[in-house]
Amino acid sequence: MAWLSPSQLQKFQQDGFLVLEGFLSAEECVAMQQRIGEIVAEMDVPLHCRTEFSTQEEEQLRAQGSTDYFLSSGDKIRFFFEKGVFDEKGNFLVPPEKSINKIGHVSPHQDASFLYTEPLGRVLGMWIAVEDATLENGCLWFIPGSHTSGVSRRMVRALVGSAPGTSFLGSEPARDNSLFVPTPVQRGALVLIHGEVVHKSKQNLSDRSRQAYTFHLMEASGTTWSPENWLQPTAELPFPPLYT
Ligand code: FE2
Repeated sequence: MAWLSPSQLQKFQQDGFLVLEGFLSAEECVAMQQRIGEIVAEMDVPLHCRTEFSTQEEEQLRAQGSTDYFLSSGDKIRFFFEKGVFDEKGNFLVPPEKSINKIGHVSPHQDASFLYTEPLGRVLGMWIAVEDATLENGCLWFIPGSHTSGVSRRMVRALVGSAPGTSFLGSEPARDNSLFVPTPVQRGALVLIHGEVVHKSKQNLSDRSRQAYTFHLMEASGTTWSPENWLQPTAELPFPPLYT
């Protein structure tokens, strides 16, 4: 990957996000989709683990925080689902391959609410569109420049064994919807997401899927990863260093 140009870096610092079209080739996207298809085809989700993904605070605590499935997802492939995927008994209402929500979020949030570091500003989201992300199928929306005013809330782990497994400190303020700017991108694009920039994606109500692959990087040098974060490195899989 080429370096960012000075103007791209400046745009990222100004807006808190940056779109890099053409990061992956069409062939790489196809290979990624094939692998996603294989993983989903082999998916075997225990009934009690049929966790629907949501960033709505109340539902999140109930649906995710109370399950080991969520809290232990750091070093495993776990499956999180769109709302309305299951009936009340946990049976799939839609074909499983169409049901996966993750990777993606819905309601407005800052990643640092979930991936908190001291100091702030050390976490970078990498969001790769494996398929075109459009206004219709759930592209990302950002409030440009919203990454400079700190973190409004934090999800923290509760004491081991207590339920629910996580709770929030602070709350997500009401956001002015008119401040959000849509960011439609073509397949293969990489979107860099500052850990504190406010972003969301709308529910995909179209008949076109919008697969994306996302992960986060942390500048580890001089940074404390909060021991209260829901996601913790394990002995089996410490956070892998990219360079030393
Ligand atoms: Fe996010």
